[in-house]
Amino acid sequence: MVTKDKNDALNIAQVEELMYQALETEIGGQLVYKTAITCARNSELRKEWQTYLEETEMHEEVLRKTFERISLDPEVETPGRAVLRSKVRALVAAMEMAKADGGPGAAQLVAAECVVEAETKDHQNWELIGKLAENLDGEAAAALAEAHGKVEDQEDEHLYHTMGWARELWFESLGMPAVLPPPEEEKKVKTAIGAARAKQQREEML
Ligand SMILES: [Fe+2]
Repeated sequence: MVTKDKNDALNIAQVEELMYQALETEIGGQLVYKTAITCARNSELRKEWQTYLEETEMHEEVLRKTFERISLDPEVETPGRAVLRSKVRALVAAMEMAKADGGPGAAQLVAAECVVEAETKDHQNWELIGKLAENLDGEAAAALAEAHGKVEDQEDEHLYHTMGWARELWFESLGMPAVLPPPEEEKKVKTAIGAARAKQQREEML
């Protein structure tokens, strides 16, 4: 149970909801990656997603330890968690559909887009958790800050690098020059500004 905040202004029920959604996102993310890996044709992309899958498993562990530290039951069901599970089912179904009907090239593109969608939510969860840590007090503040510190850089990579892959694979499929692996990869992008810069510089990398 999260109890202490710095100015008594926080909606504690919603704080806990964010933590439950963060956990559910990491669990569902693993299903998304497992299916995406079966859609990947580019070997570097497949390797990258395998790494991201392992990191996502680690994020689930980090959250489970955080839950223990702040005495939050990880099994509590919320309507938000059910919504997330339904989204994951839709993402997995979309990839399976692309594999069956669209051919391998289409499946890889759809998978890249599905990973971007899943990681967009994941990225926002952690951004919020980082900010939340600054507004909490005591053990909860320490636990959230520590968890955030462990995963933040990886979350940035998962989102920005996969966005780069999705864009460049689309260019390739259109028959236009593509930078593969994407500039975000080469420049080891970890921020939104870095991603914008990498995208801007892609022309020079063609
Ligand atoms: Fe994650």
